[in-house]
Amino acid sequence: MKLLESVVEFRRARAEVPGSLGLVPTMGFLHRGHMALVKRAREENDSVAVSIFINPTQFGPSEGYQTYPRDLRRDLELLKAEGVKLVFAPPPEEIYLPGFDTWVEVGALAERLEGASRPDHFRGVATVVMKLFNIVRPDRAYFGQKDAQQVRVIEKMVADLDLCLEVVAVATVREPDGLAISSRNTHLSPEERKAATVLWSSLSAARDRWAQGEARARILKKVIVSTIDKEPLARLDYVSTADSKSLEEVDTIDRPTLVSLAVWIGKTRLIDNVTLAGR
Ligand code: PAF
Repeated sequence: MKLLESVVEFRRARAEVPGSLGLVPTMGFLHRGHMALVKRAREENDSVAVSIFINPTQFGPSEGYQTYPRDLRRDLELLKAEGVKLVFAPPPEEIYLPGFDTWVEVGALAERLEGASRPDHFRGVATVVMKLFNIVRPDRAYFGQKDAQQVRVIEKMVADLDLCLEVVAVATVREPDGLAISSRNTHLSPEERKAATVLWSSLSAARDRWAQGEARARILKKVIVSTIDKEPLARLDYVSTADSKSLEEVDTIDRPTLVSLAVWIGKTRLIDNVTLAGR
């Protein structure tokens, strides 16, 4: 496995990798969710590259860029054990040269849901992912379905800008009690960790209700809100039932629908989602 920190070095190493290449973009501090992406990339490609870059432009002013957890040594051990060929871990100044001022903005899709609560977040994501695609030149790129809107934004960017690669969404990896695995879970106290199961239990309750025949979005949202309300440590930021492609809100679940939510557990904001197939 080769660790490369500059664009020039990476390009040189990339040129020597034959066959198809899968890319797993990450911000490091790897967990089982990331490793599921790496495993899938290994199954579907001759070689795998992983980027580790905490992207400053996707963090809002109080979103903890400076305190984002890091452990490069451990990350490298995990990736080596998984047979990863190339790791790209540049410093911020390698990606954002002085005077950097060209941005990728994905329109309406990026303004809803997470975009409404986190202005500029998806502009930062789309810009850095575009740069990573240009530097790495992968055949396929792997993203977790936990960040469903991120997947949609990247798919849209790839389609709108005629990029020649496949975006692969990989199912969310969960703890045994249903909590979606996320780097943010490490911020939770033991009590908050227990309370955080309310995200998945509320989504599961809505999914069960839908499976029993309920197609009205407002009723499914009510199920979620009332489940969250019963957990004293949880505060709902938003709940949405949206067309899974356009992310426009729907009144009736009559097509594939993304049911998603963001919840504050103490000072930690967690997101999760489930897709209902539609009837
Ligand atoms: O999902 C993430 O970890 C980040 O948003 C990504 C895709 C690596 C871009 O910085």
